[in-house]
Amino acid sequence: MGQLEFDRRLVERLERLYRTRDVLRRRELVRDALGARPGDRILDVGCGPGFYVSEFLEVVGREGSVVGVDISADMLAVAAKRVDGHDNVEFHEADATSLPVPDATFDRAVCVQVLEYVRDVPTALREMHRALRPGGRALVWDVDWATVSWHAIDRQLTRMVLAMWDNHLTHPSLPQTLAAQLRNAGFEDVRMDAHTFATTELIPDAYGGSLLPLVEQYVAEQGGMSQQDAKAWADEQRGLGSRGEFFFAVTQFCFTATRRS
Ligand SMILES: C[S@@+](CC[C@H](N)C(=O)[O-])C[C@H]1O[C@@H](n2cnc3c(N)ncnc32)[C@H](O)[C@@H]1O
Repeated sequence: MGQLEFDRRLVERLERLYRTRDVLRRRELVRDALGARPGDRILDVGCGPGFYVSEFLEVVGREGSVVGVDISADMLAVAAKRVDGHDNVEFHEADATSLPVPDATFDRAVCVQVLEYVRDVPTALREMHRALRPGGRALVWDVDWATVSWHAIDRQLTRMVLAMWDNHLTHPSLPQTLAAQLRNAGFEDVRMDAHTFATTELIPDAYGGSLLPLVEQYVAEQGGMSQQDAKAWADEQRGLGSRGEFFFAVTQFCFTATRRS
């Protein structure tokens, strides 16, 4: 059982997922909480396919700049294409625990659904702290997968699927310790907001709907479940969806914190 691989196939999936209604809502929440302004220098750690980078460029304008860092070359290729033509953006292929950026440079640093995949979270947080100027703000967003509430008829099979899904990342419940970890990394004014993504419709625009095929594929290919059982689980969910009985909810957490002035 292994962590999700952010390769070309997943990039294509995420490109679709990140255009859905709930992920658009998430980006809006992130933009509001980050409070970036024209002229800001923004660092996006684990920038993925570059949706945030592209939107931040609109906010900071020509006077500002954006740097995207990601460990996946496939992700960075898509991100670079998205912002083609801008000369105030840079990308680096690097690990979140070793950011190739100078000290005290950025006004804002953002890291959305990345640290839950990073083994050494304390080092990654210290790196974001180092990169921010005094008074600069960090935003860290992660999912607590223990909050998933997913209606099922075969509850035992669903419990098994969710236990396997916990292996798709390193820290299934990272938000539970993030406030303390941010303070330990040197941040102050640590705040947290919880956002629930819930749906009673099995549609790709809802987080739960878009997650279903991803979970089905993961448990069959990497999770250790047979194709047959994975399909039986997903078919039950599709049946619930077509009868109007689908229910999914998960809570995601947005932390903001400041580097002392
Ligand atoms: C779920 S995606 C989120 C992408 C983007 N932040 C967003 O929300 O649109 C996770 C991203 O983190 C990147 N990632 C995972 N581990 C990383 C690490 N150790 N250092 C840098 N990036 C990493 C992956 O390559 C992937 O692009």
